[in-house]
Amino acid sequence: GESAAGDGAAGDGGGFARVGDIVHEGLHNLEYRGYDSAGVALVGEASGLTVAKRSGEVDNLTVPDVADAALGIGHTRWSTHGPPTDENAHPHTDCVGDIAVVHNGIVENHEALKAELSDHEFTSDTDTEVIPHLIEEELAAASDAGDLLDAVRAVESRLEGSYAICAVREDDDRIVVARRGSPLVLGHDEDATFVASDVTAFLEHTRDATYLEDGDVASLSAEGVEVYADGELVDRETETVTWEADAAEKGGYEHYMRKEIHEQPESLRQTIAGRLDVDAGDADLDTSFPPGFLADLEEIQIVACGTSNYAGRYAAQLFEDLSGVRATVETASEYEFGAGRSADRTLVVAVTQSGETADTLGAIRRANAAGARTFAVTNTLGSTVTREVDDTAFIRAGPEIGVAATKTFASQVATLAMLAVAIGRERGALAAADARPVLEGLRDLPGAVQQVLDNEDAVREAATEYGDSEAFFFVGRQLGVPVALEGALKLKEISYDHAEGFAAGELKHGPLALVTPETPVLAVLTEGGRADETMNNVTEAQTRGAPAIGCVSAGDKYATLDVSLPVPDVGVVEPLVANVYLQLFAYHVANDKGRSIDKPRNLAKSVTVE
Ligand code: AGP
Repeated sequence: GESAAGDGAAGDGGGFARVGDIVHEGLHNLEYRGYDSAGVALVGEASGLTVAKRSGEVDNLTVPDVADAALGIGHTRWSTHGPPTDENAHPHTDCVGDIAVVHNGIVENHEALKAELSDHEFTSDTDTEVIPHLIEEELAAASDAGDLLDAVRAVESRLEGSYAICAVREDDDRIVVARRGSPLVLGHDEDATFVASDVTAFLEHTRDATYLEDGDVASLSAEGVEVYADGELVDRETETVTWEADAAEKGGYEHYMRKEIHEQPESLRQTIAGRLDVDAGDADLDTSFPPGFLADLEEIQIVACGTSNYAGRYAAQLFEDLSGVRATVETASEYEFGAGRSADRTLVVAVTQSGETADTLGAIRRANAAGARTFAVTNTLGSTVTREVDDTAFIRAGPEIGVAATKTFASQVATLAMLAVAIGRERGALAAADARPVLEGLRDLPGAVQQVLDNEDAVREAATEYGDSEAFFFVGRQLGVPVALEGALKLKEISYDHAEGFAAGELKHGPLALVTPETPVLAVLTEGGRADETMNNVTEAQTRGAPAIGCVSAGDKYATLDVSLPVPDVGVVEPLVANVYLQLFAYHVANDKGRSIDKPRNLAKSVTVE
């Protein structure tokens, strides 16, 4: 499915200022979140419904000058599926252009719904577009002109997935909104009512805000707001927002990095939405390999840099275990299509959050030149890599602003795990019964990550206690190795402390010489990571005086650890959950030292030079 990950802002501004300007300003206020297209819909008594939308920046969008507009909705879209074109920008309308809708989230069953709407005319590739057409159907089925609120409520019950919706209709003086899974907040001013995905959209007008709850449907008009839950009128508390605009942009967090760490349950939900079939033991990434290609496949080569490279290292082990194919990982800047390989039996997978990393693009160009089939796993629609490869799978993590990659690592690994299952199943190398536990782990991943986030205080204490050490060593085995490497990268990147990651078994082959009471060892002691053997290596370091912090599978106990952080039972993705502790550890060590966490010295979010 396609997803709109932008932000909706809507205002019903009883005429004290141009409604179009208010909505436009709201979209400007949300720009920091990242987006690739924008649009508005305005409704006036005489002018009817006017829609304008366009790819590119909010400033590219000419908001129509509708003098009598009494209400309006707007949206910035961040594509996760379906390119950033004018047509795919929100709002979306019904066949006759009477209804306009903006939407955040994913309608997972949009294909089935679209099939039911075969006599409707669709003009975009989005999942969102089914919503105005379904509303149109509901209104047409009503005996009179129908009621927008009733129609949205009826449509809402047919949508699967997570969403926040705002809908308007010609000849109607209300904005109707619904929330399930994606945030919506109302703002109350003397002259106007606002609704947006985030308070930042309307903070200059009012600080009185009402957060809607999942399942709420509300109508906003000049007469006020009505909120319904299960068809009953309900009262939702209004609170006063005390954040300053800068903090509000970060959702109340001090840094984007911590906000993005905390977004992982939601971003992972988006990553897996509509892609897992646990019962059938399969995953669907909408790939289109030529017939026979996977059956003949000899090798998967992963090319990537930095954190994406570590996501690739995690995935390589999954490709070997689940897809039954030899898998290698190359540092993109070092990659050559080596001798002894048959290009037509090799799949080269670029893993890149930005889709713009020059080293990774260089590797993909060398793979293409050798005649290999190429594939991208990226967060960024329309990015350069997507234009250079044969196939792409999007990780749908949403925009990441902190230079340190956090939520995108988790979504990369989850996407690659689904790809490993899909390839394994299609090749006949993986039985449904063996795929199922992996899929269940992915399904339970967002909840497991939430449990780790709920335990943040324990990591913060560890960070305060050990943060001033001389150096930090991160160890793990198997799937714990890429996580150890990633944990060390995160810490050095944002705290400027010396940190190194190792395969735990390698400690005794050299690095152990560095171990002292001043070098804490952080260990991944979970499923998929040979926990008992790793613990033996940790003990060797402890014998030399090093304090040990372990991320440990629920139920397991290593009584000698100085700090034990429990990881919920989710099978092969447990090391990925453990990684969230390491992200938080890095964050708190750096934060205690007052580092520039979101923009570490010498680093850029997207590295476009080789
Ligand atoms: C990690 O925190 C860094 N931002 C960096 O290692 C990053 O992962 C690397 O530069 C690759 O970027 P990409 O995923 O956009 O290709």
